[in-house]
Amino acid sequence: MERKFKTLLVTGGAGFIGSNLIRYLFEKGGFEGRIVNLDGLTYAGNPESIDDIYKLHGGKRYFFEKADICDRPAVEAIFRKYEPDAIVHLAAESHVDRSILGPEAFIRTNVLGTYTLLDVATKAWKGREDVLFHHVSTDEVYGSLGDSGYFTETTAYDPRSPYSASKAGSDHLVMAYHHTYGLPITLSNCSNNYGPYQFPEKLIPLMILNMLEGKALPVYGDGKNIRDWLYVEDHNSAVWTIMRKGEAGRSYNIGGENEWENIRLLSRLIEIVAEEKGVAPETYKALITYVKDRPGHDRRYAIDCSRLKAELGWKQAHDFDEGLRATVRWYLDNPSWCDRVRSGEYRNWLDRNYSAR
Ligand code: NAD
Ligand code: DAU
Repeated sequence: MERKFKTLLVTGGAGFIGSNLIRYLFEKGGFEGRIVNLDGLTYAGNPESIDDIYKLHGGKRYFFEKADICDRPAVEAIFRKYEPDAIVHLAAESHVDRSILGPEAFIRTNVLGTYTLLDVATKAWKGREDVLFHHVSTDEVYGSLGDSGYFTETTAYDPRSPYSASKAGSDHLVMAYHHTYGLPITLSNCSNNYGPYQFPEKLIPLMILNMLEGKALPVYGDGKNIRDWLYVEDHNSAVWTIMRKGEAGRSYNIGGENEWENIRLLSRLIEIVAEEKGVAPETYKALITYVKDRPGHDRRYAIDCSRLKAELGWKQAHDFDEGLRATVRWYLDNPSWCDRVRSGEYRNWLDRNYSAR
């Protein structure tokens, strides 16, 4: 039987995947209830990314609460105010390079913040079974693969960066709250997402914007690390499928079945940007710069998502070339979003546009 929810609490809904998830739920997912977006608006949180939804549904079916997930009284107050019957937990520090430079924020938000949400939910829901805590996690908890093989849901955890270690810790807490306190949970571990509204510190938007500005395209190490790429809307349709139909206490891998060496992906991206801009690809190829490798750089990620496909009937809807082109076009068509994010002006956008709300 499918679960139905009245009020979803989405954490991290001003970030890349969260803003796309909220838009997906209103526009394509068929969700009919209301959504509360709880986001602390760190550097990665940009409420402009979800302003279209605010304009359509704000104060009726969409509510925004600026709060830190580690702030227990604030989280409790939001629970009391909206009485959510499901949580989709995305709020996190998400960038591996930042976790290498400063792990503390990752341990705090990803471990302590997840614990706080779990504990508040467990106490507020008092053993109810018609509720759900869905935790959005990453394939990076499984470590690094050699040339062959895939991560399955039974692959042993082997995190190797402070980011993946903090996400692994959060996954274990989610499972522990299910086994110890009976909290109804589902968990998903997804591969690399790409699409609109991604903060340009991550590979694909960074490369697109650097090409447009004529800046160097920094490739770590030998450029042969492999990632499995998935269009963000496909990730979100998978999360929503799991929330409605997944078995409580179970984890599901989500992936694109779409492995690319970084340098090959960059070459394809260069071709697409060059076509869209009417520029010779050589102009952008000349910008490729091999730089010092990321410490502990995981070599290859590859997801086996057959559980999700076979048990819940999900499949990817977006072809990679089509998704990559749509992403490039989105960055070309939204120069003001890009300019504000690159200049840091998006922080002021919040003060100007939200102080009156
Ligand atoms: P993001 O960095 O774009 O967004 C994170 C959001 O969380 C931001 O809006 C930020 O303001 C908010 N946040 C951070 N710390 C907070 C705190 N203490 N309290 C409240 N809000 C806080 O991240 P993303 O790429 O959208 O990833 C979302 C989730 O999906 C993360 O949990 C990440 O681990 C997971 N994930 C991401 C990918 C990917 O490829 N991006 C793949 C698999 C899983
Ligand atoms: O696999 C899922 C994970 O994917 C998510 O859990 C993370 O939140 C998300 O950030 C992403 O992690 P990665 O480290 O794989 O993504 P990133 O975009 O930082 O890097 C992708 C690959 O590109 C990786 O092999 C490192 C490389 N890279 C990255 C950057 C930013 C470069 O070569 N140059 C760069 O400038």
